Amino acid sequence: GDYTGPLRPQVHFSPPVGFMNDPNGLFRASNGTWHLYYQYNPTALVAGNQHWGHATSEDLYTWENQPIALYPPANVTGSGVFSGSAVLDTDNTSGFFGNLSEGVDPVVAVYTLNTPEKQTQNIAYSTDGGYTFTEYEGNPVIDIGSNQFRDPKVIKYEDHWVMVVAYSVDFAIGIYTSPDLKQWEFASNFSDAGLLGLQYECPGLAQLPVEDSDEKAWVMYLSINPGAPLGGSVGQYFIGDFNGTHFQANDAAARIDGFGADYYAQQSFFGTGDESIALGWASNWKYTNLVPTAEEGWRSTMATPRRNYLTNATRIGYVLVSEPYQIETVRDSSLLEGGAETASVVNTTVEIDLSNSTSGAVYFNLNITVPENASVSESAAITLVMRSSASNETLEAGHYLGGSNAGTTWVNRGNLTGFDHPLFNEKFSLTQVGPGQSLSGIFDRSLFEIFVDGGAFHATSTVFPSEPLDTLEVTTSDLPEGADVQAAVWGLKSTWA
Ligand code: FRU
Repeated sequence: GDYTGPLRPQVHFSPPVGFMNDPNGLFRASNGTWHLYYQYNPTALVAGNQHWGHATSEDLYTWENQPIALYPPANVTGSGVFSGSAVLDTDNTSGFFGNLSEGVDPVVAVYTLNTPEKQTQNIAYSTDGGYTFTEYEGNPVIDIGSNQFRDPKVIKYEDHWVMVVAYSVDFAIGIYTSPDLKQWEFASNFSDAGLLGLQYECPGLAQLPVEDSDEKAWVMYLSINPGAPLGGSVGQYFIGDFNGTHFQANDAAARIDGFGADYYAQQSFFGTGDESIALGWASNWKYTNLVPTAEEGWRSTMATPRRNYLTNATRIGYVLVSEPYQIETVRDSSLLEGGAETASVVNTTVEIDLSNSTSGAVYFNLNITVPENASVSESAAITLVMRSSASNETLEAGHYLGGSNAGTTWVNRGNLTGFDHPLFNEKFSLTQVGPGQSLSGIFDRSLFEIFVDGGAFHATSTVFPSEPLDTLEVTTSDLPEGADVQAAVWGLKSTWA
């Protein structure tokens, strides 16, 4: 793959060539290596002919492309290996790993085989730690005769395996249990929850820590497509309890996972202990087959890896916080004047030359303090503008601090000219209900991610400038007396160079 194109992300994963969608089979090996599989069409720049592509990383930012891991069966015309997950079968419950070499992880992939007739759940095992797989001769492991039944995510719960899988057009998530990954028993359905859209896809289940407590709670992730508020595909989640067979949501509210248009099919890694680490696909089905990166021979990017946890410190109770995972790993030097660590930006503009970052990618963090009882005007705002020196294009984002828009974060990609499509929503915003103490973000050529309060609210947006954006302006205006915005801005190391 050629990773030098002007739209190629430098600290995010994108496929060497061809088309990528959902992350699949995520696991962390016992030696610490991260394994990413992904929905992959190696032969075209649009979805179809689905394989599982594969890449590995020591830090989730620096990736090494690996050979394709799962191929559609050659004898079934029009078949595809659809989304799924992977587990480490450390106790050899499956019996596949009797002769495993010392130090090699017992990996089982659980995926949907899509054929023109139906979608079944199948498994394959790897005796070389996840590089090559053998199909289980007893496949399929679940076949209900449906052509809308897909995306198994398997976790370990105490002494048994648990699968969540979507009955897509029935708006239900099936929960199955198994002692050995081969025999699956239906346990319950979680259905008709949240935004229905037209189809349920890519469910997920994880137990997450609650910030500042010893508490843990369960989260059911669910993707819907199409039918998102911004059109196309979107993720949502439910917080509740899981007893090994049944998931019970705390309330009937739909919580959207990200207010941008490009965060989908988030999956958490198997094998990360008490931490929950996830990757999402940074695109949207409504235009993913049309975006201009095709000129560079590839389509789609994974979002920045996230550490997921819960907070209860918002006005709507529990919220999923998705913070960039160990972004400091790829942080380069400060881009502030004189290499200063931070700069106070109060009712002024700071201009940052992104060409001082070798990758052109940047990470910023703004810490916002407003004195209690200050009267904050309706126009008090933080504004970010990314400009191109070669064109009139801008990418803009911002945050309002007072008046009727207090707590509202917005993104506007409508002044970029590299992609013209009626469904490429140009502006979106969210009024958040947390403390509003920080705003951080990552800009990486064709991807822009913004995080409010460390990720309690976030937006992931693909952006397609026709010329590279090479300046960042941070402006604050009409801040009240005594308010401060402390800015830190770092270049990011190019992990593909
Ligand atoms: C979600 C999805 C899944 C399916 C896969 C096919 O983006 O539609 O439901 O398994 O993509 O590539």
